Amino acid sequence: MDRLLLDPHVSRAEEVTLGALLRCCARELSGPRGHVWPAEPYLLLEVAGTLIRVRAHGGIALRFEGRAEWLSDGSWLPLTSDLLVELAERELEEAGAVDHAVGRTSAHGNGRGSGHGGNDEFAAQVAASRDAIATLLTARARTRPPSDPWLTSEQSLVDGHPFHPSPKAHTGSGLTRYAPEARAEFPLRLLGVRADLVAEQGDTTPLDRLGAAPVGYTLLPAHPWQLELVADDLRDPLADGRLIDLGYGSRPVTPTSSVRTVYDAVTENCLKFSLDVRITNCVRKNAWYELIGAVELTERLRPIFGLLAADFPGTRWLPEPGYRSAALGTRLFEALGVIIRSGPWRECGPGVTPILAGALATAGDDLPEAVRARRWEDPLGWWRAYAERVAPPVLDAYFTHGVVLEPHLQNVLIGVGADGLPSEAVFRDLEGTKLVSGRHDLTGLPDRVAEAVTYEAGQGWNRVVYCLVVNHLAEVAATVAGTDRLLDDLWHVAHEILEDYAGRRGRPAPLAELLGGAPLPAKANLGVRWTRSADRAAGYTTVANPLVAYSPRR
Ligand SMILES: Nc1ncnc2c1ncn2[C@@H]1O[C@H](COP(=O)(O)OP(=O)(O)OP(=O)(O)O)[C@@H](O)[C@H]1O
Ligand SMILES: [Mg+2]
Repeated sequence: MDRLLLDPHVSRAEEVTLGALLRCCARELSGPRGHVWPAEPYLLLEVAGTLIRVRAHGGIALRFEGRAEWLSDGSWLPLTSDLLVELAERELEEAGAVDHAVGRTSAHGNGRGSGHGGNDEFAAQVAASRDAIATLLTARARTRPPSDPWLTSEQSLVDGHPFHPSPKAHTGSGLTRYAPEARAEFPLRLLGVRADLVAEQGDTTPLDRLGAAPVGYTLLPAHPWQLELVADDLRDPLADGRLIDLGYGSRPVTPTSSVRTVYDAVTENCLKFSLDVRITNCVRKNAWYELIGAVELTERLRPIFGLLAADFPGTRWLPEPGYRSAALGTRLFEALGVIIRSGPWRECGPGVTPILAGALATAGDDLPEAVRARRWEDPLGWWRAYAERVAPPVLDAYFTHGVVLEPHLQNVLIGVGADGLPSEAVFRDLEGTKLVSGRHDLTGLPDRVAEAVTYEAGQGWNRVVYCLVVNHLAEVAATVAGTDRLLDDLWHVAHEILEDYAGRRGRPAPLAELLGGAPLPAKANLGVRWTRSADRAAGYTTVANPLVAYSPRR
């Protein structure tokens, strides 16, 4: 406790960690069991039989104010993340035991690896995430934001995913050297791949501008952290000349919010690397079929985004026109595979500044002054411009073009004009972008690639609604509203925008249900971590639909 009081970064990290875990508990444990009650000015919830109270606002985004407390022998005591971990573990273990006894799979995942409902890594992951946040805050305090306002926004997700039990947990020791939140900058490592072993597709020429390879070799940039992680696998190909080590690149690159994707300001491209580190639910590896899928999707999406931009002005995207790797077996092909992604400054219109949507869901210390001022002075107008840019193109990609975008807060950039108003929405990250099955001709694609780029229609709709409404709009709305006074109005505006879009497209049934108040799917990240499931096997729970009846309960 003394340490907590003495070090503001440690106490802030505790606050963030407790908040994220409490949100997960409310959404995935207490909410579905009916164990959440409004009790003005508090929200009351029960976890493993223990009553917790906290002041909350923000609707389904669940923003907390002040310290959460738990009831112990008639007195309210401060809740700590360590205690909440114990309570969550107890409740999850009991749920697992019940599921096991009646032979059913838990709603919070597939139960794999959880035995009779236990998980001996969980507490350590939460603690590691808390420590990482404190470390990042300390590293950050020693630096200044970069001059590029977009990169500043990419570096601002210090709290991480607001509904993840261990948002900043990571394996390995590279975080402060390579993390965007620490405002890291570093040169790439450059490898040469013997010409006959180059594996690539699409337009890879931007990679050749990162350095020079000797005759008979092709340049392959690598993430320095990844080269540390796969050093053993590289020993033989480096020893026999299939690969050569060309040292460090001559200029620094800047990591974006996903950590493993970096920006090279000279070529104005992003480079998405494999990183064998688990960040939230995934080891961040470019699988072979994702490398191929990115280029394939880029070709197919080009005309579709052209149509979307014509129908919904301000719609942009970041194409991924090529990848390069080395044909040294699947392990190294994936470990060294790099995807080229167009940088946002090249895609946004003149005078438009891209800002990460996730940064716009924060209070905004790192946002351009014009944005903060405009959002503050005219929250409803600002929000209307925001939701109009983001929502209709996502819905139309799905309904008209059979394309599932993954518009969560980290995959969307908002282009803002000099007046601080949103004028463009830039969609990125083709790994999560899928084609609705049956709507596209995938003949000729390898089966595994076709499978990886496809979603069933229902699965795709769930993903769209979760990412767009629960993960994205709800978070930005909670920030814009500040307090709950405006929240209803903001959701009414969003409803109008969706209703208007629905009217233009003959009210497709899933959208009519959404507008009618169908509960929203919410990804169960606590369940995913508890059951050690793959992210793609994640379970979903439901939350109240704020588009019709804003409810502060979950
Ligand atoms: N609200 C949020 N929703 C989803 N991810 C978030 C959110 N806030 C922070 N994140 C972080 O953003 C990253 C999202 O992962 P995602 O799979 O989209 O990225 P990626 O594929 O690794 O890289 P890129 O986005 O550069 O393609 C994770 O590191 C996750 O922890
Ligand atoms: Mg992403």
